Amino acid sequence: MSFLRKLDLVEKVDPEIAELILKELDRQVYGINLIASENYADEAVIQVQATVLTNKYAEGYPSRRYYSGCEMYDQIERIAVERVKQLFNAEHANVQPHSGSQANLAVYLAFLKPGDTVLAMDLAHGGHLTHGSSINFSGILYRFIHYGVDRSTELIDYDQVEKLALEYKPRMIVAGASAYPREIDFKRFREICDKVGAYLMVDMAHIAGLIAAGLHMNPVPYADFVTSTTQKTLKGPRGGFILCRREYAEAMDRAVFPGTQSGPLMHIIAAKAVAFKLASTEEFREYQRLIVRDARALASSLDSRGYRIVSGGTDNHLLLVDLKRLGVSGRNAQDVLEKTRIYVNKNLVPYDEKPPYITSGIRLGTSCVAARSMKESEMDTIARFIDTSLKNRRDSTILKKVEEEVIEFCKSFPIYGD
Ligand SMILES: Cc1ncc(COP(=O)(O)O)c(C=O)c1O
Repeated sequence: MSFLRKLDLVEKVDPEIAELILKELDRQVYGINLIASENYADEAVIQVQATVLTNKYAEGYPSRRYYSGCEMYDQIERIAVERVKQLFNAEHANVQPHSGSQANLAVYLAFLKPGDTVLAMDLAHGGHLTHGSSINFSGILYRFIHYGVDRSTELIDYDQVEKLALEYKPRMIVAGASAYPREIDFKRFREICDKVGAYLMVDMAHIAGLIAAGLHMNPVPYADFVTSTTQKTLKGPRGGFILCRREYAEAMDRAVFPGTQSGPLMHIIAAKAVAFKLASTEEFREYQRLIVRDARALASSLDSRGYRIVSGGTDNHLLLVDLKRLGVSGRNAQDVLEKTRIYVNKNLVPYDEKPPYITSGIRLGTSCVAARSMKESEMDTIARFIDTSLKNRRDSTILKKVEEEVIEFCKSFPIYGD
């Protein structure tokens, strides 16, 4: 922690920014982070990012760079590639995508032509912007058709996916989501793809850590391409990567560089290498198991307080809470909880009647609280904080009291050592 507070050089040249960084550190330490797409990168992962590796251009790939002086960068990138291939048992990996969105962009560029039909999960049912939202490059350049979840079970309706695939004959089917609390059957997706001759792209951004730990089905044997971020359950730096079969390697690499990016962020690639190493340890696997136990405990504690949990529970690191019964919108709940230092995001629930900037639900994730070693009994405390805040949302005295309790509670669960 002292390492994270050491900003003497920044304080000298830019005290304004230094002060904001320290305030943000305090916000993270004295707050409960339930944002499902976030995590706390290991201190070693943070340290690597603040090194001289940020100084160099290394356009190209190991031994095929456009600049001289890339010897260390070649070794670093090769290590990152080998580690991630081993972690997910993949034939080929590209660790250069700057983000998850860049990874998806590169796959589409490599294997689709503008106007091609793609089948993906509806954003309103848990999909992602880059899975064909009309305001994203994906929906602007390609013809996306969307599948969703069944109205009563709130689970992916694989029969509907198959029906749509047979009807629209997509060139690619995208599996993977941003707000789906259940395990995804990648084998079934492969079978559907085979029926219509479509590529299968799996975007495992949210669940990459769970897959690395062997808790969820590994998509690599079934998918043609797997994309991911490194900053979510995987606990690495902000960034992306792509896995694919050897036969697609050349086209894939060309689509990343020079297709969609130029200079790779080598300090981030080094940080990814460190994160992949950490993700192959037994300690990491134990951490992933705790994430899932915590998510289930939080779902059941909220359920017992009368909250409706979408699909009745969770198999992964996140849960969706439908707030209609309480008569509060997702946006309002997010704002109220922020006052008590509990960070969540508003989220559409399946078949939501409210618009995306209001929503009827919130998405809660447990990657951060599990990283602080908060266990099942702590999830009950957090459910109580949430419940008290939402039910007393107009009572500033009670909200202040909850905020004080949250600060005290957080003191027992450090993020970074001391
Ligand atoms: C499923 C999925 N894919 C892709 C992304 C995009 O990642 P990034 O924000 O790194 O571009 C996200 C981000 O939340 C995501 O949830």
